[in-house]
Amino acid sequence: MNHHHILTQTEAYVKETLAGEGSGHDWWHIYRVRQNALAIAAHEPVDIFVVQLAALLHDIADHKFHGGDETVGPRVARAWLETLNVEADVIDHVGRIIADISFKGAEVETPMHSLEGQVVQDADRLDAIGAIGIARAFAYGGHKNRLLYDPDVPPEAHTSFDAYKKSQAPTINHFYEKLLLLKARMNTATARRLAEERHAFMESYLNQFFAEWKGEK
Ligand code: ADP
Ligand code: NI
Repeated sequence: MNHHHILTQTEAYVKETLAGEGSGHDWWHIYRVRQNALAIAAHEPVDIFVVQLAALLHDIADHKFHGGDETVGPRVARAWLETLNVEADVIDHVGRIIADISFKGAEVETPMHSLEGQVVQDADRLDAIGAIGIARAFAYGGHKNRLLYDPDVPPEAHTSFDAYKKSQAPTINHFYEKLLLLKARMNTATARRLAEERHAFMESYLNQFFAEWKGEK
C-alpha cells in the first residue's frame, strides 16, 4: 500500500474512532495537530510520513480516558498500522512518539528522541494553548465535572506523572500547572514563534478572568 493510501485509511479510522468525543480530543483536534505539524515540518528535515501518522494516531487511545494506562495508545496505534502492513521501523517510530508525547507534570521532563516526534509534540502543545487551548481546557473540565475556579485550591507543580494524573483541581489551575509552561518547552523555533501570541492571549484572558471574578471589570 502506498503512503498516500495509508494516510487516507488512517484518517478515516481516526475520524470514526474519535467521532463525538466531547473533551477536546475529537477529530478536529487531530486535524489541527496535523496542520500545525505540517507547518512546523516545512522548516525541519523530517520524514513527513512518520510526522503525519504520529499526528493522526497520537490520541487514538489517550491515557486520560483509559484509567491512566499510557501503554494502550501506542499499542492501539501499532495494531492499526500492522493491519495496513506498514514497515516495521515506521511502526516502531510512530509507537515511540505516541508513548513519549504527553505532558507529565510541571517538574517532569518529557524528552522526545526524534525530530519527527519533537515536531508532533510541539504541534499537539500548540493546540493546548491560545484561544483553542482555553476552549479545550474548559471542555475537558466540564467533561470531568471540574469547577471553573476555586480560590481555595492553589495550583501545584507536580513532580511525578502519577500525581499529575490524579489531580482533580479546577480548570483555571491547569493554566498554571501546564498551559503557561508550554511556550518554554517547545522543541522547534517555529513552534516557539507560534506559541508567543497564543501565550500572550492566555495571559490577557486570565487577567480579565480574575478582574471579573473580583467584580473589578
Ligand atoms: P497531552 O497528551 O500533553 O495531555 P492532549 O492532546 O491529550 O495532550 O490534550 C491535553 C489537553 O486536555 C490539555 O491541553 C487540556 O486542554 C485538556 N486537559 C488535560 N488535563 C486537563 C485538566 N486537568 N484540566 C483542564 N484541561 C485539561
Ligand atoms: Ni493531542
